Amino acid sequence: MRPACRRPDTAALPEHAAPSPPHPARPLSPASPRPARPADLAALLALESASFAGDRLSRRALRHHLHTPRNRLLVIDRHGQPAAYALLLMPRRWRHARLYSLAVDARARGQGLGRALLAALEAEARAAGYLGVQLEVRADNAAARALYAGAGYRPLTSLPAYYADGAEGWRLRKEFTPEP
Ligand SMILES: CC(C)(COP(=O)(O)OP(=O)(O)OC[C@H]1O[C@@H](n2cnc3c(N)ncnc32)[C@H](O)[C@@H]1OP(=O)(O)O)[C@@H](O)C(=O)NCCC(=O)NCCS
Repeated sequence: MRPACRRPDTAALPEHAAPSPPHPARPLSPASPRPARPADLAALLALESASFAGDRLSRRALRHHLHTPRNRLLVIDRHGQPAAYALLLMPRRWRHARLYSLAVDARARGQGLGRALLAALEAEARAAGYLGVQLEVRADNAAARALYAGAGYRPLTSLPAYYADGAEGWRLRKEFTPEP
């Protein structure tokens, strides 16, 4: 399985979309996440190619994840189209679910969509009995690292040369606290 949470393709995005500068105040409240449908495949592929420079999920891989009952692929719509998606893997033998991919359309960033998708997937993992959620992120992906840190993810281990271009990664984990 290829590394999760690939490098954002900032070079391919409009200047305002680069993830490094802090984003402005939120203009919109995020719509609710919903399960992805087969009809979303083209929009998911477009999000992939706009968001990641390499190691993209192929059409075939996305279709596979869409049809694997133990995976959760959620989207949030803007203007009737998926503007963000996130994929969680929940194999039976794992104690922690794994966030495998998360991408928000450059025009919809900074509006809480990433955080909303993450929270929705965490709720799914908790309901399915997992102890928490684990993920990998590039050390140089400041926006994603801030999102995960704010959501309670803590560094588990450093992953030297984890990515195809030799970049360092971090494995992060969030342990669920027992419900009151
Ligand atoms: C990382 C990404 C998913 C964040 O999605 P988003 O919808 O823009 O994030 P949100 O609006 O939900 O922001 C939630 C938190 O993330 C952090 N964050 C988001 N964008 C940020 C930015 N440009 N700079 C710094 N922190 C940022 C902040 O902590 C923010 O909380 P705050 O608004 O209270 O400060 C999005 O930038 C993206 O798709 N990037 C390209 C693909 C990618 O890197 N995916 C992750 C792979 S691990």
